Amino acid sequence: MSRFALVTAEPDFDERVRLAAAGLPGTLQAFRADFLPSTIDDMFGQLVGEPLEVLVLGPDLPSSDVLNFAAAVDVRSPHVSVMYAADASPDLALAAMRSGVRDLVTPNADIDTLRVHLEQAATAASYRLSSASAVQPGAGENTSQGRGRVITVMSPKGGVGKTTIATNIAVGLAKNSPMSVVIVDLDLQFGDVASGLMMKPDRSIVDAVGGPMDSLSLKTYLVPHATKLYALCAPLNPADADRVSAEQVSELISRLASEFQYVVIDTSPGLGEHVLAALDQATDVVWVCGMDLPSIRGLKSGLEILNELDMLPEHRHVVVNMADRKSGITVQDIEATIGVPIDVILSRSKAMPLATNRGVPALQDGIRDATVKGLRKLVERFHPSWEERNRRQVHRRVVFQ
Ligand SMILES: Nc1ncnc2c1ncn2[C@@H]1O[C@H](COP(=O)(O)OP(=O)(O)OP(=O)(O)O)[C@@H](O)[C@H]1O
Ligand SMILES: [Mg+2]
Repeated sequence: MSRFALVTAEPDFDERVRLAAAGLPGTLQAFRADFLPSTIDDMFGQLVGEPLEVLVLGPDLPSSDVLNFAAAVDVRSPHVSVMYAADASPDLALAAMRSGVRDLVTPNADIDTLRVHLEQAATAASYRLSSASAVQPGAGENTSQGRGRVITVMSPKGGVGKTTIATNIAVGLAKNSPMSVVIVDLDLQFGDVASGLMMKPDRSIVDAVGGPMDSLSLKTYLVPHATKLYALCAPLNPADADRVSAEQVSELISRLASEFQYVVIDTSPGLGEHVLAALDQATDVVWVCGMDLPSIRGLKSGLEILNELDMLPEHRHVVVNMADRKSGITVQDIEATIGVPIDVILSRSKAMPLATNRGVPALQDGIRDATVKGLRKLVERFHPSWEERNRRQVHRRVVFQ
């Protein structure tokens, strides 16, 4: 198969894509047609050469056919980046992203722009392919093959930075794995993932669990975000939280884990039934704790309870957030109290509340400070090969300067 495939009968677009691909490694196979084959096998069977990474669909193809075809590619070869050339209205853009189109480009984009898009799409495709093959049970996957990593961000106490950390993890992961990350707001009463990502969703988790939870139905409740992740938001009305049971949460997360490479879950404080249901499905738990005694003691009890219940996920990441040298508590004090090492320290930063108030996570904004650096380190821990590379020091001693 070719690295790039193109379907269009539009000569000008065809030529620009050919010239753009000519500057990149790998071959391009073009199909001169203003229609798509009825099955993807009809096309994939004709491809020769190296594995397909990017499928470019031209502006002259009927949009409804493009969406159906992209959805089929998404199911059959999810690593392939489908790029669609269209002057897309917001509605079409949304529908395209939902159906599995991974990149939209304007039909009159110049050669350099097209080359950048092709390169990014190819990088994302090869990353998805290598992540999928690198992920082995026990190295980040859940117990069965083909399930994504489920990362539950939690803390016994409120206001310690769970939502800030969950949204940044999701944004950070989506940079390397576009359209392969979903963030779920399980703080059902007072969730603020939507506001942290500046979204105004018209659908929520209540709608998602209220109907059939097959992959196509679920996708219609996910809201795409500019950073190429999806969000499943909390209901607008706190009273609706009662309409979601722990069993539904379990099933929802399990379904999402079979569709997405990463499911990031923000939770409400404490160990309520929804949080426990999320933990039960989790491959990873991110414990967030502040540098104050109530928060540290809460974490200690939380760890003990979950240990007794045998509910600690395989991968543990302890994060001290809003760290402050003037708090009178040291990292060593915290470790001695909770009995496990701290993995990441995020210092108190003026940029964080600003980012929250603007609805633009720090990792989206490109802010540079020590806290953002710490967030990047946290995100790296979820890369499929991280544990392999750090086998000897999964919980490396952190230094807080
Ligand atoms: N490292 C940090 N430095 C400074 N402020 C921070 C930091 N991390 C988070 N914050 C701020 O603290 C406030 C609370 O954060 P956040 O909403 O993420 O906490 P939470 O644990 O999700 O709260 P809740 O339990 O109410 O859901 C936000 O205004 C956020 O911007
Ligand atoms: Mg929160």
